[in-house]
Amino acid sequence: MSEKTKTSEECSRRQFFTHISITLGSLAALMVGIPIVGSVLAPIVNKPKPIWRPVGELRSFTLDEYVKVNFVDASPLPWAGITAETAAWVRRSKNDELTVFSVNCAHLGCPVRWVSGAKLFMCPCHGGVYYSDGTVAAGPPPRGLYSYPVRIKDGQVEIKTSPIPITTVL
Ligand code: FES
Repeated sequence: MSEKTKTSEECSRRQFFTHISITLGSLAALMVGIPIVGSVLAPIVNKPKPIWRPVGELRSFTLDEYVKVNFVDASPLPWAGITAETAAWVRRSKNDELTVFSVNCAHLGCPVRWVSGAKLFMCPCHGGVYYSDGTVAAGPPPRGLYSYPVRIKDGQVEIKTSPIPITTVL
């Protein structure tokens, strides 16, 4: 075998391994990259839309008193089961005006409780306290309770639920 033929063979073998390396490297990059890109884009592409959820007949809500209502979150996963349920506090005032606050504390999301005698919402986790209009009275919450848009349709109170985290502002 001449020196020239040997060099040519080495060159083609080197090219062959270079192509294999590039191909395998590209496949590995795709296998790693596709799930990463998918997980980044999924919340944007599959953004759940807010949904109007009926929570009870208007007349069933006591005047000037907060009543807790349960409903399914706007973005339940198929396997979420009971954890897809969330809640809100609804108050009907004169002239059928409705106020709806998320049950989740604006600090770290613990469920707040309406204490009727004190006219305050209390958070059991870190002592957050809110006035009846949802503004902060004491404790660590950086803002007031989140509110939900609400409407009355065919005598039913409906809440426009949003995926958690709730982005509606007071
Ligand atoms: S979660 Fe409510 S005060 Fe911290």
